[in-house]
Amino acid sequence: MRITLSTDAPKAAAVDILAIGVRRKKFDKDEELLALDKALGGVLDEWFKDEGFAAKPNQVLKVPARGRVKAKWILLVGLGTKNSDMEAARILGYQAAKASSRQKSAAIVLPEVSPATVRVATETLIGGAYRYAEYKTGTRKPKGGLARCAFLCADAKSTGLKKAIQAGTAVAESVNIARDLVNAPPNDLNPVTLAEFAKTEAEKLNLEVDVWDKKKIEAAGMNLFLAVNRGSAVEPRFIHIAYKPKKSHTKVAFVGKGLTFDAGGLCLKPGKSMVDMKCDMAGSAATLGLVLAAARLELPVEVHAIIGSTENMLGAAAYRPGDVFTSLAGKTVEIINTDAEGRLVLADCLAWTVENIKPDIMVDHATLTGACMVALGPHRAALYTHDSDLAQTYENASELADERFWRMPLDKGLRKQLDSFIADVKHTGGSYGGSITAALFLEEFVGTTNWMHLDIAGPAFNDGPAGRTPKGGTGFGVATAVRFLEYLALDTASDDGDESAATAEA
Ligand code: BES
Ligand code: MN
Ligand code: ZN
Repeated sequence: MRITLSTDAPKAAAVDILAIGVRRKKFDKDEELLALDKALGGVLDEWFKDEGFAAKPNQVLKVPARGRVKAKWILLVGLGTKNSDMEAARILGYQAAKASSRQKSAAIVLPEVSPATVRVATETLIGGAYRYAEYKTGTRKPKGGLARCAFLCADAKSTGLKKAIQAGTAVAESVNIARDLVNAPPNDLNPVTLAEFAKTEAEKLNLEVDVWDKKKIEAAGMNLFLAVNRGSAVEPRFIHIAYKPKKSHTKVAFVGKGLTFDAGGLCLKPGKSMVDMKCDMAGSAATLGLVLAAARLELPVEVHAIIGSTENMLGAAAYRPGDVFTSLAGKTVEIINTDAEGRLVLADCLAWTVENIKPDIMVDHATLTGACMVALGPHRAALYTHDSDLAQTYENASELADERFWRMPLDKGLRKQLDSFIADVKHTGGSYGGSITAALFLEEFVGTTNWMHLDIAGPAFNDGPAGRTPKGGTGFGVATAVRFLEYLALDTASDDGDESAATAEA
């Protein structure tokens, strides 16, 4: 979708659909609406009454303009009286996309035009237009979709607004890449094809990419990762992508769980729990998406993306409960439940990252536990870290990104659940606090690195559309990570006395 700026008045925008926000059904103080109403012959009041349009948030009224203004259709979008200009912009972008699935061109009238509002409206517009139709054929394949959209504003040459459109586009397209990966069926998206895709996308942006096959993973000694792969007919892949800008004061490493399918292994999942387990690589999809976005935004922060990818299957060589493996870091691990595979893959990837990247901050994304969904519901991720400033910055970032996290405790007292009779550590605990004990297991492998664990099992994948996210893969995590990196970039900019490099305000 091509997104532009235009100084057209609403009534003069020659587009298929004109979207305009309405704060309250009595709009006598809103100049844009008054002007539009006048052009339409004063029909708005009557339309609102006839259709029960009360300007509630996300309420929409779509009417054909029949030549009274240049646009073919008018989309009146309720914003409510209490929502901020930022939230109003998100609502408008999203509803404009939803109403335009059969239209080619749109124009949007934001109640307040600024780099910040244009950025978020761009994100929800592109995100809202997302459809996954790779596997539809013939007439079942949806055609077209919105090709052009303009934000109406006073200055179509504003570099601030143009940059905001670019930034919003880079983020939303990266979110959509992550969605595509999660939605891709597991017979086509396996560790090998995931690595090929990651390499192709990273090389388009001139990023450094290193992909390891099974031999190299063996040579490195990632025995926990390899244990999970034993039951699979497909090779594992270890992927490392690095974005190294010239100017950077901080090195951040993101580690992603890339289980392209999780059958549970010998501790087989019941069919109902297995059906969506192609989503178990959502952490790796977010990790790839965010490094691509950081590079496109040219953020002055060094970003590493590390992905451990395998299936968890139950072939003849599959790992068993009772097996003991020596991790990359040297600790021995007793296998209890082969369905707790993600933490094993992550343990070796985290240890590798600590040793070889030595990041200032290390963040992992993983669809790690069902227990996390029991605790927080399906649309919120768990956030674990000892660093309260880091947690706060991430939560601030998540608000700008329109994603939901909740800080959870790394309760030391639960650590004894992981004591093993025969090895250094067991990899699962008892029946209570399953998301916490998973995080405590990971903590065994991060040394003294400043680390944050994000359990995205719930929000990574939707049973149906939820909020502004679609059914299936959501791309959760990408947008918040980008906002977080933009906060770090602000620090780089102020250290250099260069405020122009700071984009987090947009
Ligand atoms: N991939 C699952 C977690 C999951 C569940 C993700 C639902 C998305 C939706 C993970 O590998 C798993 O199976 N975890 C087990 C751990 C248990 C065996 C200790 C779980 O949560 O049941
Ligand atoms: Mn599992
Ligand atoms: Zn899993």
